[in-house]
Amino acid sequence: MAWMVRAESPPAGVVRRLRPSELPLFRDHLMRLDGESRRDRFNGVACDAFIKDYAARSFAQGATVVGYVEGGRVLGAAELHERPDLDPPTAEIAFSVEKPLQHRGLGSQLFQRLIAHARALGYTRLRVTTHPHNEAMRALARKFNARLSFEAGETVGLIELDAAPLRDADLFAFLPPLEADGMPAR
Ligand SMILES: CC(C)(COP(=O)(O)OP(=O)(O)OC[C@H]1O[C@@H](n2cnc3c(N)ncnc32)[C@H](O)[C@@H]1OP(=O)(O)O)[C@@H](O)C(=O)NCCC(=O)NCCS
Repeated sequence: MAWMVRAESPPAGVVRRLRPSELPLFRDHLMRLDGESRRDRFNGVACDAFIKDYAARSFAQGATVVGYVEGGRVLGAAELHERPDLDPPTAEIAFSVEKPLQHRGLGSQLFQRLIAHARALGYTRLRVTTHPHNEAMRALARKFNARLSFEAGETVGLIELDAAPLRDADLFAFLPPLEADGMPAR
């Protein structure tokens, strides 16, 4: 099956949190999603105006957005949106990887990084919703131990996070190693 084939070389860009000034890169990424990925990402039809507004709202409301950045463009993203109405501290998460880069492990890398941010922010539960036929998202959610259930026509995945605070060592895992002189290794 096509989705089982992985490209030889790992993607050359970096996975990192986006800066507030990078909203246009995030918006352009969402706008470039092909029709099927756009429908899968937004659980249905989403017009250009909706997506532009959605990207702006996400940044304005303080969502944490992790991007896969390559050549000055964002080609994949993972979003963490607080759900202050839910208890325990819960965030809604969502993912998007542009078609040519799908099935190369980027969704998994973005997920892993998002979990680190979620734990650092003190969330203990993550929630992801998708339509029941989105096999890629269901597989990705299962990989991160999501409990999947069916609610009002949607698949809902719940991920319980370790409430123990992150150790410095966990945070340093996302920084480049330092040389003896304290400078980042090349
Ligand atoms: C869902 C999505 C983010 C996954 O990103 P990705 O970069 O392709 O994910 P990965 O390559 O890390 O694959 C994750 C796992 O899912 C599996 N997988 C990927 N596509 C699959 C498919 N169509 N069917 C079954 N399993 C699939 C992979 O084999 C992998 O498992 P493994 O590591 O055990 O082999 C991507 O497909 C996407 O952007 N889709 C459109 C938007 C969307 O659906 N968003 C989700 C709603 S929030």
